[in-house]
Amino acid sequence: MERIGAHSHIHGLGLDDSLEPRMSSQGMIGQGPARRAAGIILRMVQEGKIAGRSILMAGPPSTGKTAIAMGMAQTLGKDVPFVSLAASEIYSLEMSKTESLTQAFRRAIGVRIKEETEIIEGEVVEIQVDRSVTGATKTGRLTLKTTDMETVYDLGTKMIDQLTKEKVLAGDVVQIDKASGRIIKLGRSYGRARDYDALGADTKFVQCPDGELQTRKEVQHTVSLHEIDVINSKSQGFLALFAGDTGEIKPELREQINGKVSEWREEGKAEIVPGVLFIDEVHMLDIECFSFLNRALESELAPLVVMASNRGMTQIRGTKYQSPHGIPLDLLDRVLIISTQKYSDEDIKEIIRVRAVEEDVTFEDDALDSLTTIGATASLRYALNLIAPSSLSATRRKATAVAVEDVRNAFRLFADTQRSLQFIEEQQDLMMFGTKMMNGTAAPAAATEAMQTD
Ligand SMILES: Nc1ncnc2c1ncn2[C@@H]1O[C@H](COP(=O)(O)OP(=O)(O)OP(=O)(O)O)[C@@H](O)[C@H]1O
Ligand SMILES: [Mg+2]
Repeated sequence: MERIGAHSHIHGLGLDDSLEPRMSSQGMIGQGPARRAAGIILRMVQEGKIAGRSILMAGPPSTGKTAIAMGMAQTLGKDVPFVSLAASEIYSLEMSKTESLTQAFRRAIGVRIKEETEIIEGEVVEIQVDRSVTGATKTGRLTLKTTDMETVYDLGTKMIDQLTKEKVLAGDVVQIDKASGRIIKLGRSYGRARDYDALGADTKFVQCPDGELQTRKEVQHTVSLHEIDVINSKSQGFLALFAGDTGEIKPELREQINGKVSEWREEGKAEIVPGVLFIDEVHMLDIECFSFLNRALESELAPLVVMASNRGMTQIRGTKYQSPHGIPLDLLDRVLIISTQKYSDEDIKEIIRVRAVEEDVTFEDDALDSLTTIGATASLRYALNLIAPSSLSATRRKATAVAVEDVRNAFRLFADTQRSLQFIEEQQDLMMFGTKMMNGTAAPAAATEAMQTD
């Protein structure tokens, strides 16, 4: 069973070709201006027009900031890196803050490497396999043709196994990578279109290739700068990539790699693909990180940095100064700000509907209405969190759809913030570190304060 995450219903930004937001598309609802702005930024990233810029998504909690970032990630092409980071992740003991930020920056920069490989491409005329008496070894011959020539190749056990695995038959057009020996089935030759036998509905027909059997082809793959760093760092080696525990990487190594990559660029062997680095809850960064960001954004190899924050005027971590979103003014000055607004009731209803579909829950109309009211008065997240418990309640009644009473049950069982706050206020005296402690004696004021200010 697939696990359903908070944003698993989101498949893109839901924009049309001219970047106008559709009302409800790809799991995205409402929040039009912010989605459009995100779309414009993405288009610029895809065209390679911006790097070293940053945007900030600012707005109240549960207004879709993280959701929009996830939508951006889905819209980017497959080889454009998208790295997502919660600001608090950088406070790890194994690595300095700036090191983990540097690694995140470098993970968000792709290097598209072009390579020429020798390939053999042709239509299969015949496959012959000879087994040894014991059956342990196999040898064979593969006859391939183009419209101009025909050649017989000798086959070893490995190639025979691959041909069997890929179910290659006479009449298929195949591509063989000479270096790796990998076989790709391109489709069936038009010449064999009349062989109706045993063809699946998804059979693709292609032309029999012309010219030489053996050709050179350019292949591309994209790796991130961070991956190149790790592979080249002597103490780590590429296995560290799988373990995820890459430790600190020496600055000299990074410089060497930057040099190498720019050499490749000049020789036309590689291209830089600036991706997106998403830093959620950015107010959790401290002043050192912010000044690092200021400088890192100006370096030549910088991705687009997307930040999100739900704070208003608040203290900048590591200082005693206040600033909007907890971000120093010099950095704020460099970012483009996209604001997200509170949702209308219709939007809330639609988001709940989409989430219900995602979680495979059916709602009766009035149940959906009451959950919408809850979403509008308490919070959208709270309403979304009630979908699963109300559905459980419906299942216990052996009902197929969630009714108002199920929503009510869930609402009673789980408190939202406002009710919880009310409860705390009523029970203040009995709670730990409240005004009074157990057996009625007042807690020393200093101790209470110390616990609360941390
Ligand atoms: N426009 C939208 N379309 C569809 N789903 C949305 C939309 N906005 C928010 N959601 C969903 O609502 C929930 C809360 O939104 P999200 O987590 O993006 O809020 P946020 O702005 O990041 O809040 P916070 O500031 O607390 O991090 C998520 O499950 C998200 O997928
Ligand atoms: Mg968020």
